[in-house]
Amino acid sequence: MKTVLAAVLALPAMLALSSPAAAAEGERLFNLQCKSCHGAKSTPMGPALGGVFGADIAGRTDFNYSAGLKAKDGTWTAQALDSYLAKPMAFAPGTRMMVAVPAATSRAEIIDYLKTLK
Ligand code: HEC
Repeated sequence: MKTVLAAVLALPAMLALSSPAAAAEGERLFNLQCKSCHGAKSTPMGPALGGVFGADIAGRTDFNYSAGLKAKDGTWTAQALDSYLAKPMAFAPGTRMMVAVPAATSRAEIIDYLKTLK
């Protein structure tokens, strides 16, 4: 319940940040920090992220996820993506993704960009 409340309270702040400009900055950050492992197709380096927003966590059939990420239930909401990108190992202990994005604004921009990936 606490988590739900936090998510609801965080929503206006995240919506305020949503804009085409934020997504463009998110694309720039993604190309710098994420693209080396996340391409248009899944590779052993990382799963493809097309359509990841709203999709099941660890839901792609063409990637061999860690037990840690597979153990997470639910879908990739903005809140879940924000938590994972802030502290991957805290969100999903045992995840193989080590990369974190410490700045909340950068996370919001990257998430706006992820929403555009089909
Ligand atoms: C060094 C390689 C690497 C980099 C760089 C990287 N990732 Fe990942 N990412 C992975 C791997 C590997 C997984 C799968 C983790 C697991 O199975 O525990 C993953 C999983 C994910 C997932 C979950 C996908 C799903 O299908 O559930 C998201 C979302 C994600 N990464 C976003 C990002 C973002 C955004 C960035 C840039 C800030 C990034 N990653 C940078 C390797 C990387």
